[in-house]
Amino acid sequence: MIERSLVIIKPDGVERSLVGEIIKRFENAGLKLVGMKMVWIGKKFAEEHYHAHSKKPFFKELVEFITEGPVVAFAIEGVHAVDNARRLVGDTSPHRAAPGTIRGDFAHLSMEYASKKGLGGKNLIHASGSKNEADEEIRLWFTKEELHSYSTVHEKHVF
Ligand code: RTP
Ligand code: MG
Repeated sequence: MIERSLVIIKPDGVERSLVGEIIKRFENAGLKLVGMKMVWIGKKFAEEHYHAHSKKPFFKELVEFITEGPVVAFAIEGVHAVDNARRLVGDTSPHRAAPGTIRGDFAHLSMEYASKKGLGGKNLIHASGSKNEADEEIRLWFTKEELHSYSTVHEKHVF
């Protein structure tokens, strides 16, 4: 049940100076940071990360969006980390994301609006959608040496 998940603060989140605010929410929930980096990814890497969406009508716009500036990627570890990260992030479309979630608190547009404008949906953050996706994405973004094992007080009081 202890899992790892990959979270990416997308270029809109970095450019809006929301990095600290977003990371704080994962730390507050007791999820452990086990790897972190800021990187400006290229088209090829973006296509690999989002390969599951390669046939979707928004794929080109999504790749343009995720490569338009640097992102902050981090791996978190905790109980049901994949589901818990998605819960903190909220619905894909910020206009449907509940208040209290990252997308619900800091954005409001809809994917329908983004599609009409021919843009990738600016929703601040990515979180792995399943355990398999998380394992695959962490392998893509981090080397073994960039991931760390250590203890936090949460393992005594929260896990
Ligand atoms: P993510 O993978 O980034 O965590 O997002 P998600 O699981 O909530 O949603 P997913 O269906 O995987 O979509 C990936 C990202 O594509 C962009 N998108 N744009 N213009 C559009 O209609 C549209 N639809 C999706 C969003 O940035 C979405 O997070
Ligand atoms: Mg997804």
